[in-house]
Amino acid sequence: MSVPVTPVPYHRGMARTVKRHRCIDCGATSPQWVGRCPTCGEWNTLVEETALDPLVRAVNDLDLSSMPVPLSTVDVAEAQAVPTGIDEFDRVLAGGLVPGSVTLLGGEPGIGKSTLLLQVLLARAAAGHRVLLISAEESAHQVRLRAERLGTVPPGLLILAVTDVAAVAAAVAGADCDLVVVDSIQAVAVGPAVAGERRAGGVPGSITQVRECADQLVALAKAHQVPIVLVGHVTKDGALAGPRALEHMVDTVLSFEGDRHHGLRMLVAVKHRFGPTGELGLFEMGDHGLRTVDDPGRLLLGDRMHGVPGGIVLPAMQGRRPLVVELQALVAHAAQSQPKRTVVGLDAGRLNMILAVLARRADLGVLQFDVFASVAGGVRVTEPAADLAVALAVASATTGKVLPSNLAAVGEVGLAGEVRQVDNLTRRIEEAGRLGFTQVVVPMSSPDGPPGVELIRVGTVFEAMRRTDPFPGDVDAPYDEEGRGDWGLHAL
Ligand code: TYD
Ligand code: MG
Repeated sequence: MSVPVTPVPYHRGMARTVKRHRCIDCGATSPQWVGRCPTCGEWNTLVEETALDPLVRAVNDLDLSSMPVPLSTVDVAEAQAVPTGIDEFDRVLAGGLVPGSVTLLGGEPGIGKSTLLLQVLLARAAAGHRVLLISAEESAHQVRLRAERLGTVPPGLLILAVTDVAAVAAAVAGADCDLVVVDSIQAVAVGPAVAGERRAGGVPGSITQVRECADQLVALAKAHQVPIVLVGHVTKDGALAGPRALEHMVDTVLSFEGDRHHGLRMLVAVKHRFGPTGELGLFEMGDHGLRTVDDPGRLLLGDRMHGVPGGIVLPAMQGRRPLVVELQALVAHAAQSQPKRTVVGLDAGRLNMILAVLARRADLGVLQFDVFASVAGGVRVTEPAADLAVALAVASATTGKVLPSNLAAVGEVGLAGEVRQVDNLTRRIEEAGRLGFTQVVVPMSSPDGPPGVELIRVGTVFEAMRRTDPFPGDVDAPYDEEGRGDWGLHAL
């Protein structure tokens, strides 16, 4: 009688192993153990790792069931988005969340990521589904308190307050949910913490941990065909390497933006494997969570003050949606020998360029003054299309001439002072017209606007200044034939 034996590939057991050391903070490897990582400079972070020879490992990992199939036979229904019930969220996602997909929601701490996702979970649970929140930052008690503020809590919303990814995997396997939120990716970790010892994968939030956890969660989503949403904290300058480093690992990257001191929040898809990006979702943070904003003009233009120099309106694009914002400039005597330039919601480099263009091409004596420029409402407008409006606002603030309150401006300004074409001009003009701005300064080649909107087509920035000047006959600001004006600092 023969004893059945399991065939073992010949190379198993013969694998040549090589020892190496990996830094638990930055992931760099080194053949020898050293006290300090040569790559990141951290002390005592190298741990021994037994690694198979790469060739042997590749053969071991070979899975012959993964054979190519004709693309035409692939089922499209598998990538059907499921609406979450929060319309603005679904719109940004081109329909909803796709089963098996992983979405990263990035944003600054305190901007409202946890609130938004709790509302998504509540809406889904209210529709009769089982959903799971992995709360790695807040206790179940804290989350319950927050949920109370947002509305009734249906029984289908499950919560697990853990940080260990293995516990997350077990919960997802056991709970049979159709949506999982992990809050946040920086707070979960691979490998349990042993008291008094460093975690093998580094501290939670380290680049190695963030990538390893995301990798395991991506596999988990695929295995259970459940959509997983990861929360990722990003600092203002995007400095925190974690979430940025995993943008390529996930299917969708959403960015939640806004100013903590203002109510308006913007949700945009930065990357989306299942639909177009660029859709903008607008929310307002209130006492009972986030509300959809249908009329952003109320928030952005509601407190506008008329009759003050330096103010103008700009039809900006946020993603693919036009958003009319108020732009303000202030010019003041320099408090120090070095004039200061300060921007809020604008690109500082572009402001400096525009000041130089105004000084050199329009003789506007502004270089020796402090200049402040801001966009109201916590919106960030860094696109070149804001140039012309910034230039007109600065010119108005410098001369003290108030621009008409029904005036908007859009266009890129080049170094020669020329006004250039921008994208989506028709949609921008239409949106400005819809909100009651009947005069729009635009580049020369602009298409016609809707009825009721007068387009002021300009070729250069000084032409724009001349044609919007409320007192063209003002002796203090005479112009030559080219439209160049002698702009003194009359307001100061
Ligand atoms: P949160 O969702 O915790 O931010 P994140 O997860 O991005 O760090 O939001 C925190 C802020 O939102 C906090 O300052 C309180 C505020 N907030 C409201 O104004 N209204 C509300 O109903 C809720 C739940 C929070
Ligand atoms: Mg949070």
